[in-house]
Amino acid sequence: MRPHSDPAEFEGQRVLVTAGSKGAGRATVQRFLEAGARVMTAARRRPEDLAGVEFLEADLTSADGTRALADAAMERLGRIDALVHVLGGSTGPGGGFAVLTEDHWRAELDLNLMPAVRLDRLLLPQMIDRGSGVVIHVASIQRRLPLPDSTTAYAAAKAALTTYSKALSKEVGPKGVRVNVVSPGWIYTEAADALVQRLAASSGGTPETARQAILEALGGIPLGRPARPEEVAELIVFLASGRASAIHGGEYVIDGGTIPTV
Ligand SMILES: NC(=O)c1ccc[n+]([C@@H]2O[C@H](COP(=O)([O-])OP(=O)(O)OC[C@H]3O[C@@H](n4cnc5c(N)ncnc54)[C@H](OP(=O)(O)O)[C@@H]3O)[C@@H](O)[C@H]2O)c1
Repeated sequence: MRPHSDPAEFEGQRVLVTAGSKGAGRATVQRFLEAGARVMTAARRRPEDLAGVEFLEADLTSADGTRALADAAMERLGRIDALVHVLGGSTGPGGGFAVLTEDHWRAELDLNLMPAVRLDRLLLPQMIDRGSGVVIHVASIQRRLPLPDSTTAYAAAKAALTTYSKALSKEVGPKGVRVNVVSPGWIYTEAADALVQRLAASSGGTPETARQAILEALGGIPLGRPARPEEVAELIVFLASGRASAIHGGEYVIDGGTIPTV
């Protein structure tokens, strides 16, 4: 599948995407570039094969890191029309609530909530001044479907991000800034593929049996497969575009039907 792409759709637009070096973030950067945007992104390390994009090496889990990114983005791009927070991930150990320490909780909030809160605080004022802009926060279906053995703190941090996004949308919508959340289910990133290969090697099975084991652990995906990073990017870029000009304050799930209820 190659999504329809208008190479001029984002001409003249300046877009900041966090965590654009891998996975869904990288696909989102690529998709914005294909649509004619000027794009800036950041991660801790710049990949050698990433071209056509402004890049800052920064750890975004600290206030200093997000400040450095906001400053660099304004200096290099002049303004930000769309701010897309892709950064996130689950770092806590398995074993349920009792093994999660103060440090684990803080780390999940510092990775999954605070970078978005901080960058919004730094970059929304220039959108409000112009009376236009778009903010997209990437959360996860786990905010509604937490896995208690392994992702309690991650899921809670994504829930906080989603509720924060709703409050923000109510406040800044009347000032011309649209805010939406994208909540993916399982995305088949390079990291996911590496996990499948590792599981296959350690169990003596094939990659396909390892993939099926993960699908079963998730309770099944009615579409039978995870989403590709490019499919998540397509939803993000649609929501950031003028085609979504009346879509605001919502959460858009892309999970192949994983959430079992309406
Ligand atoms: N993958 C899934 O199945 C899935 C499911 C639901 C939701 N999500 C959400 O979708 C988003 C993207 O996930 P993904 O799996 O596509 O990501 P990924 O492939 O794991 O890539 C993570 C990205 O974040 C960057 N990063 C990590 N820690 C950072 C830090 N401290 N400061 C700056 N950059 C940092 C990484 O680059 P460096 O390592 O160089 O810093 C990389 O670019 C996340 O919000 C995730 O929670 C993912």
